[in-house]
Amino acid sequence: MKEKIEGLRAEIESAMEVVETSRSLYELKLKFQAELKTVMSGMKDLPKEDRPTFGKIVNEFKQSMEEKFEARAVVVRQKEMEQKYASERIDITMPGKTREQGALHPITLVKNELIDIFAGMGFKVFEGPEIETDYYNFTALNTPKDHPARDMQDTFYLAENLLLRTQTSAGQIRVMEKETPPIKILSPGRVFRSDDDATHSPMFHQMEGLVVDKGITLCDLQGMLAEFARKMFTEATKVRLRPSYFPFTEPSVEVDLSCSECGGKGCRLCKGTGWIEVLGAGMVNRHVLENCGVDPDEYTGFAFGMGVERIAMLKYGINNIKTLFENDTRFLKQFEE
Ligand code: PHE
Repeated sequence: MKEKIEGLRAEIESAMEVVETSRSLYELKLKFQAELKTVMSGMKDLPKEDRPTFGKIVNEFKQSMEEKFEARAVVVRQKEMEQKYASERIDITMPGKTREQGALHPITLVKNELIDIFAGMGFKVFEGPEIETDYYNFTALNTPKDHPARDMQDTFYLAENLLLRTQTSAGQIRVMEKETPPIKILSPGRVFRSDDDATHSPMFHQMEGLVVDKGITLCDLQGMLAEFARKMFTEATKVRLRPSYFPFTEPSVEVDLSCSECGGKGCRLCKGTGWIEVLGAGMVNRHVLENCGVDPDEYTGFAFGMGVERIAMLKYGINNIKTLFENDTRFLKQFEE
């Protein structure tokens, strides 16, 4: 019996020395407890008078082993902590990770500014679909099939009567069909034309404006555009209207602003003229009003449409429209507010 105990002690003690983790130490303890139980169960075979002495020995053995387990546990835990610290060690002298901060795209900045300016004059925002029917994009805008003005815009057709809108003017029809005047809407959006060079992109943004009410005249258009020019560029910016042609406006005008670069003296930006063309506009053609169920003898209106990229290029002095679509962050960063 004694030998058994000594054997068990030697076995467990040597095993304990190589144990490195709390988990295997715990497993070793379970094994020890199981074997101790077997030893104790042998006690019933001992002569009765030897049992108390032996019981004492077993108890002492059990107690001393438990102390050893406890002492070993402290060492093992210490080792485990050291390992954990080592693996989680961080070098506080390393340079930190910097997070790039996002910023609004110049097109978005200009679009938001335009909305702010016109919202201040009472305009509400309406957004029409980018895929349009031939009717909304052309026919209802007084541009039936075979009308020569269709050649002004090279159109991407998706199907016989379905296309990528070439102008946000399509939204004018959608608004006038649904609402009764007074109407005062601003319609921003992407438009598409098969056009591609330094100042044209096949996808670009427009901002459309439409006002319909009793007694609206070209003077109202001119006044509103003058206000827009002063707010968007400088107080000194002037507006000039030139006769033009659009099928959906009559009369139609091309609108120039005095050059913000040279103040009208003439420079490279305005090609020496002192003026820069920024938008198309006019009085809503009575056929268009009729097409939308608005009585042209009761109501008149004006509409304008401008290129957002064009305004951004003028405002920030950008000379190639492509830089607005390449998304080179070194370029875009310059417009952070
Ligand atoms: N839709 C025209 C264009 O894209 C611009 C315009 C809008 C002209 C509204 C007159 C009135 O060229």
